[in-house]
Amino acid sequence: MSLDQETTHFGFKTIEKQQKVAKVAEVFHSVAAKYDVMNDLMSGGVHRLWKRFAIDCSGIRPGQKVLDLAGGTGDLTAKFSRITGEKGEVVLADINDSMLKVGRAKLRDRGIAGNVSYVQANAEALPFPDNHFDLITIGFGLRNVTDKDQALRSMFRVLKPGGRLLVLEFSKPSSEFLSKAYDTYSFQILPKLGELVANDSESYQYLAESIRMHPDQDTLQQMMNDAGFEGTQYYNLTGGIVALHRGYKF
Ligand SMILES: C[S@@+](CC[C@H](N)C(=O)[O-])C[C@H]1O[C@@H](n2cnc3c(N)ncnc32)[C@H](O)[C@@H]1O
Repeated sequence: MSLDQETTHFGFKTIEKQQKVAKVAEVFHSVAAKYDVMNDLMSGGVHRLWKRFAIDCSGIRPGQKVLDLAGGTGDLTAKFSRITGEKGEVVLADINDSMLKVGRAKLRDRGIAGNVSYVQANAEALPFPDNHFDLITIGFGLRNVTDKDQALRSMFRVLKPGGRLLVLEFSKPSSEFLSKAYDTYSFQILPKLGELVANDSESYQYLAESIRMHPDQDTLQQMMNDAGFEGTQYYNLTGGIVALHRGYKF
């Protein structure tokens, strides 16, 4: 369905732009407590490999400043905290306080502290100075943002010259066969799994729908270019079910 300036997608539904933040917030308040266990169940643990790949492509070094945007329960933050070390700085920013609370408690229990801070923020209006971070990651978060172009411009602003952005996100499977199998899984099995484990089928129906509505690999690459990023490229993971996009600010 086509959108006018006042409307946007929430999964397959068309809603007023101003409603989206609250509806996305409902989803993540609802799933926060079961988020990690559902991630492992839904992906068979493969989300860990996707995140590992993102870290490997990040070029992160000790002492650098990282923003883990839409960082949720902190999987990427935990890894960046170890790599950047005591002279580094990792900010886990997320719009949702339930996700932030779960993330902070998990990382504290694992002894990850000192160089990590937590900020509640909307990706569209980041509360950080210009040219501040060496690296920004947004893992499975951009899909949920209302104005993705605005968010990409905001990320560009807070990145240092020479810094890079990594967008890890669900994308478009490259083969017809995989696409069909993935559709069956997403629409027949995922909501049932959500109902069974988290007592919440709707949020997992939204997950499946929001993935289908997200820009494909080439469109997202163009959006990054339009926001000012250079040297953009992407890697398809698991046949394009997920893609890692990388771009630089020069
Ligand atoms: C699927 S979770 C991903 C969490 C984590 N990055 C991971 O990979 O496991 C998506 C996260 O995006 C956050 N989010 C949604 N809209 C956002 C926005 N506009 N700004 C910042 N965070 C947002 C949600 O609150 C949620 O924690």
